[in-house]
Amino acid sequence: MSYWRSGSSEWIYFLQCTDTHLRVSAEDTQARQSPQQGLSKIVQYALDSGLPLDFVLHTGDVAGALGELGQPSSYDECDQLLAPLKKPVAYVAGNHDDPRELRRRIPTAVEWFSDDPSSVAYSFQSGEIRFFVLDARIGEAPHSRISEGQLDWLHAGLGAIAKNGAAVVVTHYQVLPIDIPRWHCVDYDGAPSSMLMENGEALHAVLSRHRAVVAGVFHGHIHSSQAFTVDGVTYHAAPSTIDNVCNLPDDRAVDDTIGANLVGIRPGSLLVRHLRLAR
Ligand SMILES: [Fe+2]
Repeated sequence: MSYWRSGSSEWIYFLQCTDTHLRVSAEDTQARQSPQQGLSKIVQYALDSGLPLDFVLHTGDVAGALGELGQPSSYDECDQLLAPLKKPVAYVAGNHDDPRELRRRIPTAVEWFSDDPSSVAYSFQSGEIRFFVLDARIGEAPHSRISEGQLDWLHAGLGAIAKNGAAVVVTHYQVLPIDIPRWHCVDYDGAPSSMLMENGEALHAVLSRHRAVVAGVFHGHIHSSQAFTVDGVTYHAAPSTIDNVCNLPDDRAVDDTIGANLVGIRPGSLLVRHLRLAR
């Protein structure tokens, strides 16, 4: 047993929730429920599922919305909404997040990439699995970039994983382009922009080089459920707890569900249960 490992099953289980976008006034969304209600539904489902969770992985955009950085009270609220699970929470920084609010919530049982109070990159150990959380923010921009320092840190960390061990890599952002042009050139505050990771190929090169130990990459940001495998590395996106899109090339329709991923992992095996609930 350790801080990030409370179960005794051979599997490590975590709940990946993402893009909760908690905010003080939520009447602006087209959603038929508040962000708070959406996250509560997911938490209740996870409680009812009977899975022996070891921890919660929140892959970012905890608070805030377009043009609005997350407010301190919204991070407190997220802690409170996740509290019924009684498990540690590993937060990942998204483009709408205040990184200092997140960093001060990360438990001490992690190894930080840097002492910079605005950096939310760290690693931690749960059983035999090493987790690497990356911070690829470029301020509040929807696109992202991984620093050379984090790439070197990740490369060294993955290289230190024993042959019978495994690692999970986590970021808020989609790493590689897919077949949907609008993710690659969207209007953001009136200016052409992109959801892409500027140097996603460089990150992918590190991941594919260590694919023997990389069990999976988990991310959010795209408000959609998706698994994308390139060169033996699979990138898993969890759906948002507030609203989602179908993520098809010609389809901007809102997906009428909310969701999360319930993930089980042991060396050699990865199980991702795609949880979808009606809004
Ligand atoms: Fe995002």
